[in-house]
Amino acid sequence: MRDAARVLANVRRGMLPAHIYNDAEVFTAECERLFSRAWMFLAHESEIPQVGDYVVRRVLEDSFIVSRDQDGDVHAMFNMCLHRGMQVCRAEEGNASHFRCPYHGWSYRNDGRIAGLPFHKDAYGGEEGFARKGKRLLPAPRLDTYNGLIFISMDPDAPSLTDYLGGFGFYLDYYTKQSASGCELLGPQRWRINANWKIGAENFAGDMYHTPHTHTSVVEIGLFREPQAQKRKDGNTYWAGRGGGTTYKLPPGSFEESMAYVGYPADMAARMKEQWTAQQQDVIGRDGFMVSAASAFPNLSLVHNWPKVADSDAVVPFISLRLWQPISANETEVLSWFVVDKEAPESFKELSYKAYLMCFGSSGMFEQDDVENWVSLTTTAGGSMARRLLLNGRMGMLEDGSPVVPPLTPEQFAGPGVAHVGYGEYNQRHLLGEWADYLERPPLDVSQITVGRQQPDLELAGDPT
Ligand code: FES
Ligand code: FE
Repeated sequence: MRDAARVLANVRRGMLPAHIYNDAEVFTAECERLFSRAWMFLAHESEIPQVGDYVVRRVLEDSFIVSRDQDGDVHAMFNMCLHRGMQVCRAEEGNASHFRCPYHGWSYRNDGRIAGLPFHKDAYGGEEGFARKGKRLLPAPRLDTYNGLIFISMDPDAPSLTDYLGGFGFYLDYYTKQSASGCELLGPQRWRINANWKIGAENFAGDMYHTPHTHTSVVEIGLFREPQAQKRKDGNTYWAGRGGGTTYKLPPGSFEESMAYVGYPADMAARMKEQWTAQQQDVIGRDGFMVSAASAFPNLSLVHNWPKVADSDAVVPFISLRLWQPISANETEVLSWFVVDKEAPESFKELSYKAYLMCFGSSGMFEQDDVENWVSLTTTAGGSMARRLLLNGRMGMLEDGSPVVPPLTPEQFAGPGVAHVGYGEYNQRHLLGEWADYLERPPLDVSQITVGRQQPDLELAGDPT
């Protein structure tokens, strides 16, 4: 990447070289240094509940079969046949005990182990010539889960997922652990936008400032109970570990009253109370903040909101999880799921799904507004003038780098990390700071990595000796 030191130094002081939002060289650096190391979200366990269930997902160009094997264990296997490299599974989802390669018919069990080769004896000399034992589809170098969210890392030396997420796990629980049964996902809807992947991740992490302007029409039709522009600045932004998000300020009230205010039935709120720590409850009940949008670095985002869906003033909350899947410097595939607690009443699930569809997903009103901006930004960032421009990403920061408003104290905000009330681009700077840290590291040398290093019982998958 040309001029990397200057680009990263500017990013770290909140002055953003505009071309980082549409630059093939920057994207190559991201692929080699960032996506090769960070933990990337692939799927949720609720998408593959039964033995044999699978979904096929990607990290950049790498396709993975995410399967549940006959013992109930979850795998993420590189979807490339050990023979001549055909994509073994061509379907997007399904249920199978085995996968058979369409090219020459090698077959694999749903844990990745090779099962059969046509004409094994005639073509390879049977087990003596080519032993099947130990041969399997290449597993993702690392796989781990958090509240059923399945992540992989391409770096065998990546920190554990828990360490990687750090304090952000505390906030992920609000979206994905509302009862002992956990959540279930519906979707994903998938579509492509001509926008850089970072813009969505930054927006969901902390952009409270755009809501009153970009989403004016949604405010005008009365979809929300809190239509005033200043409502967003009463909330806070928080950053902890490798993620951060925004909140709305609630009217004073107990935990139960606050959950009721955003539309949760009492039985759901009671289950949340059982699951969440006193500290997690305090953020809502004592401090009066309700989580809204959030992002986990690099490209997983969540949103929680509570629009009116029926012809009354009653609101219904929904949660969406989305992945900004990078395709190139100026194209992103959006994967958008509806998330709901498994134990929620059916009537709630239906209304909550309706609320989600109105606001987000391919038909969502917010989605359309946002993407118009992001495509425009990306297109303009690709020109020559953008190479001369440093964008101002310093909101909430004084000339000397100190914050406009001091961080909230633990007495004001019980959550981990650092939080500020009001408008500020604190979280965008945190996210891009992580981005700069990863881009500063050398590219991951994959030639030094063998599968056996992580799973000593395995040979390198393709090695016939
Ligand atoms: Fe898969 Fe030949 S490429 S069996
Ligand atoms: Fe928006």
